[in-house]
Amino acid sequence: MRHLIDITDLTVQEIDELIATAEDIIANPARYAEVCHGRKLATLFFEPSTRTRLSFEAAMLDLGGKTLGFADAATSSASKGETVGDTVRVVSCYADIIAMRHPKEGAPYAAAQVATVPIINAGDGGHNHPTQTLTDLLTIHRERGSLDNFTIGFCGDLKFGRTVHSLVAALSRCKGIKFVFISPPELRIPDYVKENTLDPLGLPYTEVESMEDAMPELDVLYMTRVQKERFFNEADYLRLRDTYILDPEKLSAAKPEMRILHPLPRVNEITVDVDKDPRACYFKQVANGKFVRMALIMKLLEVHA
Ligand code: NCD
Repeated sequence: MRHLIDITDLTVQEIDELIATAEDIIANPARYAEVCHGRKLATLFFEPSTRTRLSFEAAMLDLGGKTLGFADAATSSASKGETVGDTVRVVSCYADIIAMRHPKEGAPYAAAQVATVPIINAGDGGHNHPTQTLTDLLTIHRERGSLDNFTIGFCGDLKFGRTVHSLVAALSRCKGIKFVFISPPELRIPDYVKENTLDPLGLPYTEVESMEDAMPELDVLYMTRVQKERFFNEADYLRLRDTYILDPEKLSAAKPEMRILHPLPRVNEITVDVDKDPRACYFKQVANGKFVRMALIMKLLEVHA
């Protein structure tokens, strides 16, 4: 039985296969409409979500399966003090696969130790978010035609932004990627990402504060929200939340073929008048998220079209 806790649980070849399956689902949705007939996906969301939870549920419904679960820890027995392990043992009796989001780093890993069905990490605290990474990779692949040879700028909250950590890990295994980390000093990419992922492979990266200076060299700009819920005090959040605001004027220095990604939700960091720029890909990313999750559910349940 396979789980997806960390993006490196999948080999590069498996990720390529998931992208190929997602592309085939986009081209031939009817072929996949009943492949999960009789199967159930449980979504256990101990933290807020719109896209991730609904895209998992839409994915299972579009595969002909059914869904159950909760969207708020307060309505589950976690509020009575039940452990994650016990909750997952219980839900393993009711569902064939579980997607789980939790504010504590490592909770989906702990769940996988006791689960009797596959566990998918749908975001654990400020740590990882591997299915957002699959979404990001499918989007980059569709927009650029490959996952190799480009310069990507990550901008915003690189400390707490779990989607950044997982995407860096995935791209560290691709060829010819240059990383530019754009953040205020307080929200830099964690040392463990540099020490465990980038440095051992000798991968090129720079850390800068100015989005404007970095803009001209970027092929992909990955914007992020400042993660309010992970701050210890509100004053720091208020001071840092509007450090970067992407607008049409700043974009005028970007390459005409640069792509703008954002995992969403957006707060203030991209003005709405950027949405009509052909380089803006964040709503396409949302659509891609469902298709790649369909491919992932099929893989973990070992079903084929
Ligand atoms: C991200 C998350 O939950 O980490 N959202 C998402 O799943 N698309 C990003 C965020 O909340 O800022």
